[in-house]
Order: sequence, then C-alpha cells, then structure tokens
Amino acid sequence: MTADGAGGIDVRRLDATEVRQRLDGLAAVLADCVAGGASVSYMAPFSDTDARAAFEGFVQEAEQGRRLLLAAFDGGELVGTVQVILALPPNQPHRGDVAKLLVHRAARRRGVAELLMDHAEAEARAEGRTLLVLDTVTGDDAERLYARLGWTRVGVIPNYALYPDGRPCDTTVFWKAV
Ligand SMILES: CC(C)(COP(=O)(O)OP(=O)(O)OC[C@H]1O[C@@H](n2cnc3c(N)ncnc32)[C@H](O)[C@@H]1OP(=O)(O)O)[C@@H](O)C(=O)NCCC(=O)NCCS
Repeated sequence: MTADGAGGIDVRRLDATEVRQRLDGLAAVLADCVAGGASVSYMAPFSDTDARAAFEGFVQEAEQGRRLLLAAFDGGELVGTVQVILALPPNQPHRGDVAKLLVHRAARRRGVAELLMDHAEAEARAEGRTLLVLDTVTGDDAERLYARLGWTRVGVIPNYALYPDGRPCDTTVFWKAV
C-alpha cells in the first residue's frame, strides 16, 4: 500500500483479485456521486444495484487488463476511484483514456482526487502510456482540478451529455503528456 500522508489517504492500483473484493465500495462511491448530481454517464434514478452492475463491467475489464482501476482509502474505507482505459485501437498503443474520477461527497476537498490523478498518471506511464486524454463537464469542480494538474484544455463541445436530472451539459476535452 502506498502511504501518501496527505490527510491519511492511501491510493493504489487494485490488482485483478482486489478489484472484485472491492466491488461494493467502488459501487457505493459511484452511487453517491450520481446522487450528488454528477454527470458521469448515468441518469437518475440510479440505485446501488445499478452502480454495482456498472462497476461489474469495469471490474471485468480490469481483470482482463483492458483498464487500470485505482482506489483511494481513508483507513479501511474506499472513498475514491479513477480508471485508465488501456483498450484502444492498435494505432494508439501509447495512449490511455482517463475515466470515472469519483470521490465520495464525504471525502471531498482533502486532495483525494489530486492523489488519484497523480497515481493514475504514474500507473499509466508504467504501462507505457505517455499520452492521456479525458473529458469533463464544463464548469464543474473537476475542470479546475485538471487545469491545476497541468492538463491542456483542447476545447468545449456544447450539449455533449446530460446531468442525472436530464439537464444538458457541455464537456471540455483535455490531454496531458506523462
Ligand atoms: C471532481 C472531484 C473528483 C474532486 O474530488 P476532490 O477529492 O474533492 O478533489 P481535491 O480535493 O483534489 O480538489 C478539490 C478542491 O479542494 C481543494 N483542496 C484540496 N485539498 C484541500 C485541503 N486539504 N483543504 C482545503 N481544500 C483542499 C482543492 O484546492 C480544490 O479546490 P477548488 O475546487 O477550489 O479548485 C469530486 O468533486 C467528484 O467526485 N465529483 C463528482 C464526480 C465528477 O464530476 N468526476 C469528474 C469526472 S471527469
């Protein structure tokens, strides 16, 4: 386990065995973020069962090496997560897509997301991925975070997605060489 010190938060990549053991904790963080109104693919109402089903798919891909799955722990409790999608076309072997950066509302504004992103970049680099891409809701908290962490803003796509309550939102695309 990596001890980061910042607020006692530990961040690590979950291996193929642990991703399945941590399925409930991962699903709980996703359900909390959607309940809080985050636009992260899903619409309301979004139950704990829905969240578990969503993460079941991610866990399968992590087990197959198609995506990296990282988690942040406060004591024994899983409070945040992020993924790096590695399964990309054959002509992009150097690239990864960052997805599903999620921090439980009770653990926010303590630097958990920053730690998750630092570790995601390091793990991606360890897999030979030197270019990372992501998109995020324009104007939400995560956009400031990525800009602060040195990501380059490509531009805005209007009306790209919906919030869980159905309101439309723009997305901002970022990239970073790591
Ligand atoms: C976006 C998100 C991941 C940020 O998580 P977080 O752990 O709160 O992020 P951080 O703590 O690293 O940074 C958030 C803020 O807290 C501040 N902060 C960090 N450590 C702090 C501390 N110890 N004391 C006070 N403030 C602190 C940061 O400076 C930042 O400030 P800002 O919002 O004014 O820029 C979280 O809000 C979330 O899960 N949102 C819903 C899902 C989502 O939208 N995900 C993005 C998908 S692309």
